[in-house]
Amino acid sequence: MKQIFAAVFVIIVIISFIVVAFTLTQVQQEEQRLKEGLEQRSILLAESLKETVQPNFINKSDQQLQKLIDKFEDKQRLAGMVIYDNKGETIATSSSLIANVLKTQKIAEEAMDSDAVNGDFVELTNEKMYLLATPLHDQGNVVGALMIAQDASYIDTRLNEIWKSNLLRLFIQASLISIAILLIIRWLIYEPIRGLVKFLKSARRGDLEQKSPSLSTNFFFRPLIKEISNIRGSLMEARITANEEAKLGLQKLDSPWTEQRLKVFIKDVLKDRTIFMVSNREPYIHTKKGRTINYYIPASGMVTAIEPIMQACGGMWIAQGSGDGDKLTVDQNDKLKVPPDEPKYTLKRIWLTEKEEAGYYYGFSNEGLWPLCHIAYTRPTFKKEDWEEYKKVNGKFAQTILSEIKNIERPIVLIQDFQLALVPRMIKNSRPDASVGIFWHIPWPNSESFSVCPWKKEIIDGILGADLVGFQTQLHCNNFIETVSREIESLLDFEQLTVTRNEHISFVKPFPISIAFPNPSKEKSANFDPRKLLKSLNIKTKYIGVGVDRLDYTKGILERLKAIEIFLKKYPAYIGNFTFIQIAAPSRSKIKEYQKFTEAVEKEVERVNNLFRKNSWKPIILFKRHHTQEEIYQFYKLANVCLVTSLHDGMNLVAKEFVTARNDNKGVLILSQFTGAVRELKDALIINPYNGEQTAEAIKTALELSPLEQTKKMRRMREVIKNYNIYRWSAELLKIIVNI
Ligand code: G6P
Repeated sequence: MKQIFAAVFVIIVIISFIVVAFTLTQVQQEEQRLKEGLEQRSILLAESLKETVQPNFINKSDQQLQKLIDKFEDKQRLAGMVIYDNKGETIATSSSLIANVLKTQKIAEEAMDSDAVNGDFVELTNEKMYLLATPLHDQGNVVGALMIAQDASYIDTRLNEIWKSNLLRLFIQASLISIAILLIIRWLIYEPIRGLVKFLKSARRGDLEQKSPSLSTNFFFRPLIKEISNIRGSLMEARITANEEAKLGLQKLDSPWTEQRLKVFIKDVLKDRTIFMVSNREPYIHTKKGRTINYYIPASGMVTAIEPIMQACGGMWIAQGSGDGDKLTVDQNDKLKVPPDEPKYTLKRIWLTEKEEAGYYYGFSNEGLWPLCHIAYTRPTFKKEDWEEYKKVNGKFAQTILSEIKNIERPIVLIQDFQLALVPRMIKNSRPDASVGIFWHIPWPNSESFSVCPWKKEIIDGILGADLVGFQTQLHCNNFIETVSREIESLLDFEQLTVTRNEHISFVKPFPISIAFPNPSKEKSANFDPRKLLKSLNIKTKYIGVGVDRLDYTKGILERLKAIEIFLKKYPAYIGNFTFIQIAAPSRSKIKEYQKFTEAVEKEVERVNNLFRKNSWKPIILFKRHHTQEEIYQFYKLANVCLVTSLHDGMNLVAKEFVTARNDNKGVLILSQFTGAVRELKDALIINPYNGEQTAEAIKTALELSPLEQTKKMRRMREVIKNYNIYRWSAELLKIIVNI
């Protein structure tokens, strides 16, 4: 749009320039014409008056002369007359010129000196006048002069009129031209291009129904449309071939899984059964700023993992609407198509009251279950009123799901995470035909730790409503089975890892979650220039370390900062040469524990920086705000080392994202031994985050690792993620669910 306005502006400037130049010439010509006319008329008038004045002048009849002058005053354009003697003295003058006779004297004197008419345009009492003096003679001698003053202001009036009318014409022309340009751009360029984009998008999505934009109406675009139609045809062919290949690939589990292969798998294996994804956190949050509504993708490992599956399979994702612009973007059924820029599936939002959110989300989920499941030495808090809200909100989610699956046969309902532990039972009780799975993204602690939860039996029973209970690791599965055996009555099969309760069997299985690999949408930043980014951030350093986390006490951020301090103390050569960038997304900030943690991180950054600060360099830069995924990918690509130092983590997808981003096979990952990811990413430098000395040594090793070693390690880690990406994760989970 900016460019269009710029083009219109340039055209208007050019037109204005032409009009002004033309008007200037017109005004000059008109001025000359009017002046010459006035001069001619003045000479004629002066000559005819001279005939009357001259005899009286010779007869020295001053009175007669004055009478004569008074008689002619104010006639037509004649503003006045003055008669001078040959010494330049005034003999008679019109009343209107009395004040100005001295100013006019010079013209008369020049006329007498040259014995010829003399005229000039002058400003008299703010009025433009034309003064013309003609000499008076007596027997051939110059004895005086008659001067007439003609009103010349009409010349300026006329010239102003020309300017005004030309500028008005310019304004009208410019407005009409602007409107015409905008309409032409809209009809001839914008609309056809929009049609083309829609057409191409549909081709990319594999929508065969979309017709090509009408060829006849688009004269300019006809060749382009033809070419694009051909490209679309080739794209479709390639898609069909890819589908065929994906079908062949279905038989071989070891060939890499792709979005396309998952689509084909879903069609073949699920036979078009609809998938309903359910989670607390939504994949797109809309926010309001003035009149504009924007959206962002929240910092959530669960969202990172699940979103690509939904993009591949379509279906519906039910989640809590949490943005202040969320209500403004849904339809009357609280639904909208997402991703907003390229819709592929439906998001259905559930609204919670403040009280519900406080008890269910901040309270029981994040002050109770979160610290309970993470062994990070933060005490869980269990409040009866929070538990009541948790039950109520889980019921609200279940009711919404049930109404969505009302008319759907054997739906597949995949529930995500610890916020919705009671939902599987609620669904299964009402719809035994539904295939229900729950995936626990966070760790499941040992049975003894879990036993402190006052409502442990209800939680376990809620989860066991599912046909399939997924955890990140085998250890978490074992912990869960052990907890079940300890807390409730059921039949356990340790070999098959199943729990039978009230004749319903739940399979318990590990599914280490992953991310989309490769991820073309996130690799948009592939061509970025790291030096430019560093310059824009005013960072001058040799080595870069990066950490990307929600501001959460389980992530080991304080331990990481301490390790950086140890590293710099032990290896001072890196002072001024190593900068650690911590990207920290604010999280759950209404909870006191999180507020305290954020303050502690800020203080620690300040403390370590004060220890080593040198000129404009400091060791740690904290960016405490939400970053887009593209921005984060730029930091991954920039880093020599990425630090993941969680005290306890179900999986930690930051580790996998860093590896995915490094298609240059460079960079080193330092990874906590307490993450789920450590079981797969064995080529990371593995550390115990509680051991600062060890982490400091790992930073040194990482920075000094030869490029060849870096490449070897990175290649192997990329191979692992490529082979077990999110498409394979969901295929394996779904395969089990449909066969139960
Ligand atoms: C973890 C949980 C997710 C959660 C995410 C962000 O990764 O497993 O379920 O979405 O943290 O936390 P939030 O409370 O902002 O959703």
